[in-house]
Amino acid sequence: MTSKNMELDSVWLILAAVVGAYAFLFGFLKKINEWYYVIRLGKKKHSSLPPGDMGWPFVGNMISFLRAFRSQDPDSFINNLVRRYGRTGIYRTSLFGNPSVIVCSPELSRKILTDDERFEVGYPSSLTKLIGKKSLHGVSNSEHRRLRKLLVPGINGHEALSMYIGYIQDIVISSLEEWAHNSSPIEFLTEWKKISFNVITKIFIGSADSISQSMTDHYGVMLEGAFSPLPIDVPGFPFHRALEARKILVNAIQPHLDERRYKNGDDRNTEKGMIDLLLEAKDEDGEELENELIVNLLLGFLIAGHETTALVALWLTIYLHDHPQTLQKAKEEQVEILKRRPPSQKGLILNEIRQMEYLSKAIDETIRLCGIPLAIFRKAKDDAEVDGSRTCPGADLSKIEMSIFMHYFLLNYRFERINPKSPVKFPAGSPMDNCVARISKLP
Ligand code: HEM
Repeated sequence: MTSKNMELDSVWLILAAVVGAYAFLFGFLKKINEWYYVIRLGKKKHSSLPPGDMGWPFVGNMISFLRAFRSQDPDSFINNLVRRYGRTGIYRTSLFGNPSVIVCSPELSRKILTDDERFEVGYPSSLTKLIGKKSLHGVSNSEHRRLRKLLVPGINGHEALSMYIGYIQDIVISSLEEWAHNSSPIEFLTEWKKISFNVITKIFIGSADSISQSMTDHYGVMLEGAFSPLPIDVPGFPFHRALEARKILVNAIQPHLDERRYKNGDDRNTEKGMIDLLLEAKDEDGEELENELIVNLLLGFLIAGHETTALVALWLTIYLHDHPQTLQKAKEEQVEILKRRPPSQKGLILNEIRQMEYLSKAIDETIRLCGIPLAIFRKAKDDAEVDGSRTCPGADLSKIEMSIFMHYFLLNYRFERINPKSPVKFPAGSPMDNCVARISKLP
């Protein structure tokens, strides 16, 4: 055999190996999940499933999902499904270790989120482990309803919200003054997290006592771990770091709980916070709530209540400044509110915030556009009750925080982003530079 013939043979061999590997990867490996989850359902059920693909064994579609979110183009994951299977608004996939269905049309999402009869919360196991089994996500439906009845009046409704307005105003006014006096630019997101963290700890504890601000960093670590593709509790893995961060947060909450538990009744009544309501509450059997449940509930509110508001406030500020006409209209609305205010009134009141219709729409549109939270998870079940019971109890509070901030901010300050092209990081949905900006007082 000539050396030329041998070269040709090697080329054919390599080609055959590549084709063989491709056939093995896509003809066999890529089909394993499809066989395991879909075909075994039987032809009848199988044909009623939405279109899509179940991805690779073990990791499902997690790699392409994470790649899309880290590429600065998170929509590319859904767009890819639309391109391959059409604009059905519902696709089968495999994410976070579970066979899943992605729903991305507003009508279908509304149907599912308001149907408690056939769907229950079903967050990835990594997230459930981090929030804790005994929490709003883990308790029975009836216990969930009881706990909401107990806790929600403390953060929602006219009376509670009116109580917090003065407190929020003080924080907002002093923060704005401080930022404007700063000779160097500030990290707008980091500063906003301090505002929302301050508000949520006030609601927890009911007094000026506060849980250390440095806790917000540990929350970031928890979030990273909550969306890790492999929830492995081994040092070096994000999920392990997240569990460690959870321990630090629990250790920060526990002393407040102990202190309140051992204070006598009279003392406890002076400045009641959510922590006192939980300590006084009884469960369905008339017993005091378990320590673990109380800690997890507080942790849940801390997690749900501070970063979300800060992120939406950040994007609201950015979007308004990217759209000068919208910014102008939002400013005019605030000027009108000032004009109507009786001279005897000091500061904002709830009724004025309710009149900020334009700003309220801008907040809603920001929440829609910026996609925070990343996703809402539901698990299909056979039987349950219909009640839209899991709507966000903090929606009004966060809107009020943002409206108060915008009132003073739009009327008195100028905002200038230093790195407007800073990329966005996953899963937080925040700019990499935490939105470094210069805040200056208008002349
Ligand atoms: C703009 C800011 C906020 C956004 C975008 C937001 C979004 C959401 C969403 C979409 C849910 C539903 C999750 C699900 O159905 O699985 C939710 C639930 C929840 N939110 Fe918010 N939220 C915000 C602010 C707040 C604040 C300020 C608090 C606390 C004071 C809070 C506390 C909660 C709690 C405790 C739940 C769980 C409710 C339950 O399971 O019954 N949120 N939030």
